[in-house]
Amino acid sequence: MNETFQRAVSAVAESNLLVVATGAGMSKESGIPTFRDSLDGLWARYDPQELATREGFRHDPPRVWGWYNYRRKLISELEPHGGHRAIARLEALLPQVVVVTQNIDGFHRLAGSTGVLELHGNINRFKCYDRDHPVEEEVPLACQDGPVEPPRCGRCGSPLRPDVVWFGEMLPPGVFEQAETLARSCDAMLVVGTSGIVYPAAALPMSARSGGATVIEVNVEPSEVTPTVDVFLQGAAGEVLPALVAAVEEERSRAN
Ligand code: APR
Repeated sequence: MNETFQRAVSAVAESNLLVVATGAGMSKESGIPTFRDSLDGLWARYDPQELATREGFRHDPPRVWGWYNYRRKLISELEPHGGHRAIARLEALLPQVVVVTQNIDGFHRLAGSTGVLELHGNINRFKCYDRDHPVEEEVPLACQDGPVEPPRCGRCGSPLRPDVVWFGEMLPPGVFEQAETLARSCDAMLVVGTSGIVYPAAALPMSARSGGATVIEVNVEPSEVTPTVDVFLQGAAGEVLPALVAAVEEERSRAN
C-alpha cells in the first residue's frame, strides 16, 4: 500500500464524523450522462435555459416535463455501482457518516446510505410549480418521448415540476446550512467526482479544512479542489472507493 493511500485510509478509519461530498463523477460509472451530455436526440436543439429554469417551465411546461421524464427514464434503467455501495458500507464501520451530494439520481440511498443530504434535489421527487406543495403519491413515468403535459397538484391545481434545483434557484432551505455545519465539524471529508466549480457546494472542502478535517479527494483528474486537499487519490470512484473502504475495514478490525 503506498503512503498516500495509507494516509487516506487512516484518516477515514479514525474519523468519528466522516462527510462524503459527491458530484457528477460519482455516478459516471453507472452510465448517468451529465446534464449537457443528455442534451441529445430530440433535445439537442434546446438550451439549458429553456429546460432547467423557472422561466423555461413557465414558457412551456410540457417541454420541460418531457425533458425530465426522458432523464428520469434513463436513470430508472441504471443502477448504483460498487463505489456507491462502498460508501454505504462505511456506515457500519464508523460512528457517523453523512453523504452530501450534488447528484439528483438518488443512487446513494438506493445503494444503502441512510444519511444523505441532496443539495440539488431529487429527480424522482416532485412539488408544484406555484406553491411548492410536496407530492406524496407516486408520479408515473410517461411512456411517450418528447413534450408531455405535467400532472396537476391535488391541492391547488398548479402544474407539477421535479423537485430539483434549477439554474438561478436557491438551494432547498436549510440543506446547505446543515452541510456547512457538518463540514466544519467533521474529522475527515471524502470529495468524490466533482469539478469544484459549482457553488455553494464547492465551498464545503474549504470549510472542512478550516475546521481541521483531513480532506481526501477521489477524481480521475485534478480539479479545482485538488490544490486545497490533503490527499489526492487519482482514479475512478468505482475502483478507488471499494479499495479504500476494504482497507478501512481491515484497519478498524485490527484496532478493535
Ligand atoms: N470517478 C471520479 N471522478 C470522476 C469520474 C469517475 N469515474 N468521472 C469523472 N470524474 C470527475 C471529473 O474529472 C470532474 O472533475 O468528476 C467531475 C465532474 O464534474 P462536473 O461534471 O462539473 O460535475 P459537478 O462538480 O457535480 O458539477 C456539476 O452542475 O449542472 C449542475 O447540478 C448540476 O451538480 C451538477 C453540477
